Amino acid sequence: MNTLIKKITGNPEEDNLTISQAAAILKNNGLVAIPTETVYGLGGNAMDEGAAAKIYAAKGRPSDNPLIVHIAKVSDLTLLSDQVPEKAYALAERFWPGPLTMIVRKNKSVPYTVTGGLETVAVRLPSHEVARAVIEASGTFVAAPSANLSGRPSPTDAIHVIEDLDGRVDMIIDDGAIDIGVESTIVDLTEDIPVILRPGYVTKSMLEEVIGEVKLDQGLMASAPSDVKPKAPGMKYRHYAPEAELVIVEGEADKVLDRLLLLTAEGLECGKKVGIMVTSEHAPFFREGEVVILGKAGDNGQIARNLFAALRSFNGKNVDIIYSEAFSEEGIGQAVMNRLVKAAGHRIIKV
Ligand code: TXA
Ligand code: MG
Repeated sequence: MNTLIKKITGNPEEDNLTISQAAAILKNNGLVAIPTETVYGLGGNAMDEGAAAKIYAAKGRPSDNPLIVHIAKVSDLTLLSDQVPEKAYALAERFWPGPLTMIVRKNKSVPYTVTGGLETVAVRLPSHEVARAVIEASGTFVAAPSANLSGRPSPTDAIHVIEDLDGRVDMIIDDGAIDIGVESTIVDLTEDIPVILRPGYVTKSMLEEVIGEVKLDQGLMASAPSDVKPKAPGMKYRHYAPEAELVIVEGEADKVLDRLLLLTAEGLECGKKVGIMVTSEHAPFFREGEVVILGKAGDNGQIARNLFAALRSFNGKNVDIIYSEAFSEEGIGQAVMNRLVKAAGHRIIKV
């Protein structure tokens, strides 16, 4: 398949043309990769029974994993659900458009193929202007998972999407690097006490300020027993992973640095090519190895923005093993550590 790749240029005429081309493809049940504020999404027509199968074929995996339906305005929620809880409107008022996905009961119009057979649907109103313009112009809703090949880290720059999906989708819209860098927070509003199924930019305390008590799905925690499975079906897959084995070192900063230096030296001695993911404070201590800096310690926004690109960057470097420090879990840091722990397949050394 020939993939049309169009850059957002800032020139209104050019960009409007790009948006209408994308909208026409979606209307005709084609696939378009679009930028959002979290990560790039691989969009298809959410009202089309066949969209999910096409999307997963492009991602390289047959799947019954439910997709997030992206809408262009808050009132669209009532077109997807006949039972929108009050809390959803309160959250929409505060966080939409933005990086929050809400799970509500679906109505008849939403195909089961899109919800993976569930009676509920995940809905998000993105804040990225291009994403919203494309959804609006398509006259439908857009089902979109992250626009990466299955198993690879989510794409936070158009270059990642092109790497993974050129030739596999009808169109890719290139708006350069993404703002947030980790996927949206998912909150399930079908329970009496809402439950966070995936942490993201919008934290538990931000949600609680608006709707009172919110729980965190126990299956998400690094410490969860292996028989406690996450409730969002997609959270159980090996995800975000670089090709090489990734190991996290967690503990007090000085001890973490010492252990990382030791592990690096040991790895090099055995003839391994070692990758290292650290803060800019720790980076100068490493004289050898492939060092990738995520950001300053405590600058969790920057660390989130760089995480997936950093994981991806090791694939081109042919490293045998990657060691990462554990980063702060404040704010969006919880989402960063959730993704990092998954990428590491829960291999964590505590010091
Ligand atoms: O930021 C984001 O949310 C990005 C951008 C493109 O919007 N999208 C994204 O989609 O991350 P995806 O498919 O990679 O992740 C969707 C997650 C999966 O873990 C899936 O299992 C969960 O949402 N999910 C979707 N519908 C659900 C439902 N009805 N109940 C429970 N979990 C659901
Ligand atoms: Mg994904």
